[in-house]
Amino acid sequence: MTLHLNAILSPQLLRDSALLRNSITVVIDVFRATTTIAVALENGALEIVPVGTIKDAEAKAKELRGRLGEKSVLLCGERGGIKPDGFDLGNSPLEYTREVIQDKILVLTTTNGTQALQAASAAPLVLAASFANMQAVVMFIMRYLVLHEARAMQLTDANNNTKDEQRIESICAFCAGSEGDFSYEDTLCAGALLEALATEFADGGYAYTTSDTAHAARNLYRNEAQLAQTLASTRHAEYLASLGFGRDVEFASTFGTSRMIPLRRTDGSLIHWHNPLNL
Ligand code: MLT
Repeated sequence: MTLHLNAILSPQLLRDSALLRNSITVVIDVFRATTTIAVALENGALEIVPVGTIKDAEAKAKELRGRLGEKSVLLCGERGGIKPDGFDLGNSPLEYTREVIQDKILVLTTTNGTQALQAASAAPLVLAASFANMQAVVMFIMRYLVLHEARAMQLTDANNNTKDEQRIESICAFCAGSEGDFSYEDTLCAGALLEALATEFADGGYAYTTSDTAHAARNLYRNEAQLAQTLASTRHAEYLASLGFGRDVEFASTFGTSRMIPLRRTDGSLIHWHNPLNL
């Protein structure tokens, strides 16, 4: 099996969603949506429902509250970095403490992150990652590939044709970017993810190819000597700091604060992948 490492640097650069059909797709929005998602699941949120618009988020929260009870659901998100009127929580990962969100369903709408999660829906497996949970996501992908390969072997006939239409051929780091543009922080995070996967592939004897965008993201990350400073100097980080969210930037620039593996279910909600069999 030869896998292809790819990076899409903003959802608007995805020419055709069918290109994700055989790809494990990892959505990245460092500042702040995918960091917040990892923290929310870490602190006991039951699930996160990513929604595109404020209106749809309000409607979804209302519907879920009608079915599950007023206190079971929180309406969360931002526009321009700020909590919209009538919302319970904004998009600061530091707001998502266990006391506030444990056992709740979170309806989340953000400017770029939740849009990217929706844009990735054609992929057979969609994960959400940031520096916070990168290691956990990388280890999950490696385990998933081993199990996937075992299954593909079962489904391969004597002529070496696999019957599995959802065969995994690539891993795609899918950056939320910034309203259609490249964002430095998401690209650095994509580079870190792809670099970690490439190291695991080399150690595990997997062959792989690399797209030019993946190559560029890996090089950007590898040549970055002062990651935290560079992240803090990005356009969106400076904007967040100007709103008083400087601690969010620091938190989101730190590796390993979450062990969560946020996985998109077929209904679009994100849940943590539990591993009861310790596979
Ligand atoms: C987004 O989705 O664009 C964000 O996560 C923005 C933010 O909350 O800073």
